[in-house]
Amino acid sequence: MRSHYCGQINKALVGEEVTLSGWVNRRRDLGGLIFLDMRDVKGIIQVVIDPDFKELFETANQLRHEFCIQVKGTVRARPDSQINKDMATGEVELLASELTILNKAAPLPLNMDGHLNNSEEQRLKYRYLDLRRPEMTERMRFRAKVTSFVRNFMDQNDFLDVETPILTKATPEGARDYLVPSRTHKGQFFALPQSPQLFKQLLMMSGLDRYYQIVKCFRDEDLRADRQPEFTQIDIETSFMSADEVMGITEKMVRDLFQQMLDVDLGEFPRMTYEEAMTRFGSDKPDLRNPLEMVDVADLLKDVEFKVFAGPANDPKGRVTVINVPGGAEKFSRKGIDELTKFVGIYGAKGLAYIKVNDVAAGYEGLQSPILKFLPEDVAASIVERVNAQSGDIIFFGSDSYKVVTEALGALRLKLGEDLGLTTDEWKPLWVVDFPMFEELEDGALTPLHHPFTAPINVTAEELKASPETALSNAYDMVLNGCELGGGSVRIHEQDMQAVIFDILGIEKEEAEEKFGFLLEALQFGAPPHAGLAFGLDRLVMLMTGATSIRDVMAFPKTTTAACPLTDAPGFANPAQLEELGVALIPQESKDEKEGE
Ligand code: AMO
Ligand code: AMP
Repeated sequence: MRSHYCGQINKALVGEEVTLSGWVNRRRDLGGLIFLDMRDVKGIIQVVIDPDFKELFETANQLRHEFCIQVKGTVRARPDSQINKDMATGEVELLASELTILNKAAPLPLNMDGHLNNSEEQRLKYRYLDLRRPEMTERMRFRAKVTSFVRNFMDQNDFLDVETPILTKATPEGARDYLVPSRTHKGQFFALPQSPQLFKQLLMMSGLDRYYQIVKCFRDEDLRADRQPEFTQIDIETSFMSADEVMGITEKMVRDLFQQMLDVDLGEFPRMTYEEAMTRFGSDKPDLRNPLEMVDVADLLKDVEFKVFAGPANDPKGRVTVINVPGGAEKFSRKGIDELTKFVGIYGAKGLAYIKVNDVAAGYEGLQSPILKFLPEDVAASIVERVNAQSGDIIFFGSDSYKVVTEALGALRLKLGEDLGLTTDEWKPLWVVDFPMFEELEDGALTPLHHPFTAPINVTAEELKASPETALSNAYDMVLNGCELGGGSVRIHEQDMQAVIFDILGIEKEEAEEKFGFLLEALQFGAPPHAGLAFGLDRLVMLMTGATSIRDVMAFPKTTTAACPLTDAPGFANPAQLEELGVALIPQESKDEKEGE
């Protein structure tokens, strides 16, 4: 139904007759002529309908936005005065000789030109129309090129693409599972995989050596701009490779990808320990485009009378840290600082003390702050010196538990970087390494920072059992511009160590057996040392295309309440289906009553 695509028509085709199929992007009636912007998957071309062709003109008169049409015509050069430099096909146009309406379009529920006027809910409800917008079509094409690149890279490096089950058992990655009731085993449920973690490890035990898969993962967790309940990983596992080797090959893949797709040289990725990232940036995924840093000052404040500082400064679980904002003194009025104080309050900070450095040469006299009266002169001077503050800077303080200060000032750092335009427009990748094995929950229980199959660095099972809190894991995260692109680790390949980890996590022997017995068993039969990593494909494409939401690079994403406005999923099951599955529902009223009790 076509000889060419709209976007392919150019000067070389002038004088030729072509047939195009696509949609009416726009229609203008000018001086007796009708101009159409006709669009297909590869671009837009201007079509001219001359009133001398009567029948044609009448058909064209019926055209509305998004009618699906076929046009036959002759390519001609536009007069110099009408060349449109903003359009790829702007030097030419098509003089139509035949026009067929392939299908009409009802009045559109979406504004196709000014899509910013459409709510996200509307865009998702009419996603098939939203995807017609060239910007969205381009993102889908870009995404396909990324996956094609990845497949080629993996194939060339001897990785085997193996599919793993979607109906499976729980695969713990820290989120809730999506459950699917089994009809043949009433009362039992499959879990959708949060990742193929266990299967890819089993594939290493099968001797497949190098595995990859571009695979859907399912996690029932609170959604954000960079999280979806159903998302795609580039999942990788290798045998007999060290952490360095896995980082090396996956870094090369990302570097080559950026070079080929964006003509960007990411260079060699620096490595930073988790501890350094948390200390300097208050985050395990630091955005290195932002020049602001956190600087600890607890040692200087141990003896001050001001309890707000002295308390945490003397508490081993406390933290007192500052951020110096160059040139910030004039940018923040009382009101501005009150707003920032509210902002850090979201993260539990009880205040946001500050010092304005009006004139650094004037020493104590040159400083301005409501808390200055609580700070001896030499202490104030040491703080100013430590952050190398200059005249015109402002120094913000966080003083509380380690967790509150790190989160609050980490978030403040990002906000100030954005608000003050300090965060630059470049690519800043890095590896974060040497994570702690475990994190302490509020009730004192330990939980794995990565997942429970991650190997510790340089400890025996006995040593780990004796002091799990201090152990570091052989895990690594790839971070780009403050976004965690991927994470992985060297795995445990010895049964003893795996059993100790379950024990530390408070997973009873029976429970471990019930949940992961198959893995423990598989580790007995000559399991090779193995290591791997998984990238979030959606996040990678989001960053590369400059999209602000992960939803903009997925064809059919879900809303922030994990629903699909297009299909109306999730939906109610009919009673017969539930009966067959052996599933009874808790009536919603009685559930609400219960919660209200
Ligand atoms: P992890 O849980 O870190 O590791 O996930 C790997 C990467 O997947 C992406 N990602 C997500 N993307 C969109 N929406 C989500 N809800 C979401 N959750 C995670 C992130 C993340 O870095 N099995 C391990 C990997 C391994 O050890 O090999 C795992 O799944 O970009
Ligand atoms: P207050 O003594 O509560 O009036 O606080 C004096 C100053 O210290 C104010 O500027 C507060 O915003 C600030 N402040 C109070 N608590 C903290 C805290 N935990 N961390 C940083 N600054 C604080």
